[in-house]
Amino acid sequence: MEFAGKVAVITGGASGIGKGIVHALLSRGASVVVADIEQGVLDATVAELSPLGALRGVRCDVTDAASITALANDVYGTEGVVDFLFANAGVTSGGGGLPWEQEMNDWRWCFGVNVFGVAGTILEFLPRMLAADREAHLITTSSGDGGIAPVPHASIYAASKAAISCFTESLAHQLTKVGSPVGAHVFYPGGGLLDTGLWTAQRNRPKDLERVKPRPPAPGTSFEEFREQLKAAGMKADVVDLNWLGDFVLDALAADKYVIAPNCETFGPLLHSRADAIAAGQVPPTLIH
Ligand SMILES: NC(=O)c1ccc[n+]([C@@H]2O[C@H](COP(=O)([O-])OP(=O)(O)OC[C@H]3O[C@@H](n4cnc5c(N)ncnc54)[C@H](O)[C@@H]3O)[C@@H](O)[C@H]2O)c1
Repeated sequence: MEFAGKVAVITGGASGIGKGIVHALLSRGASVVVADIEQGVLDATVAELSPLGALRGVRCDVTDAASITALANDVYGTEGVVDFLFANAGVTSGGGGLPWEQEMNDWRWCFGVNVFGVAGTILEFLPRMLAADREAHLITTSSGDGGIAPVPHASIYAASKAAISCFTESLAHQLTKVGSPVGAHVFYPGGGLLDTGLWTAQRNRPKDLERVKPRPPAPGTSFEEFREQLKAAGMKADVVDLNWLGDFVLDALAADKYVIAPNCETFGPLLHSRADAIAAGQVPPTLIH
């Protein structure tokens, strides 16, 4: 797969995992449009990575349909085509906790970005990508948490990512069924500890979706606590180089993978045990307890 000369759009690409993908795309000669809600970080990332290639930033809030339409109009008016669309922007639901302690605003914010934001991005871009009738790829960023099995103390986030995995799978089948040259892929970031802005996702939480009842951070939800949980689950807990992860994503696309996951092989045994439990009418095992 050739990335040189291609156009990529990535939501939530100003920091963390998305920024690693931007780095990889630029390194391989693609032109990149980063769409992100955080103007300051967006500007800093564009300034930092511009020496690598053709990069520009567009402020976009994926929860706002008009903002996504403006982004698509901008890209199609400027670059004229989209070869790779990464629907990557995502947030937590605000600090974990017991499922019945969550508030509707936790659901609204998390699903607003992770589910409706991805839906809005796809609904705006995919018809245009299909109309171009040329090879293109749409990649959603899901999570092993929910996409493979839930982390129970992140119940809303897990539910949002389960929705995205399920939707992307439906999309992949339907694109194949109609013989489209556009492919869908699902990305499960992993391979160790991901030191990204997700741990401070609250910085982008809108005022009108704040929690009604403030509460201290729930136990088990800090970066350090997560490191211990990964270790206890026998999973890799070293901090992952995000530029390496970006390269991994592009290599997986080039290898025609539908599932893009650095720790794909660990999913098999877990999914088998989940299938066995479900078939026996039992609650299936989780990703991390
Ligand atoms: N960090 C992890 O451990 C992990 C694991 C699995 C999946 N993920 C997923 O990876 C993706 C990227 O997250 P990350 O870990 O790099 O975190 P991050 O906070 O570093 O990156 C997320 C980006 O999304 C942007 N964003 C937030 N709300 C937005 C909105 N409404 N519109 C547009 N942009 C918005 C943020 O400004 C940020 O730049 C997310 O979908 C996340 O759920 C992360």
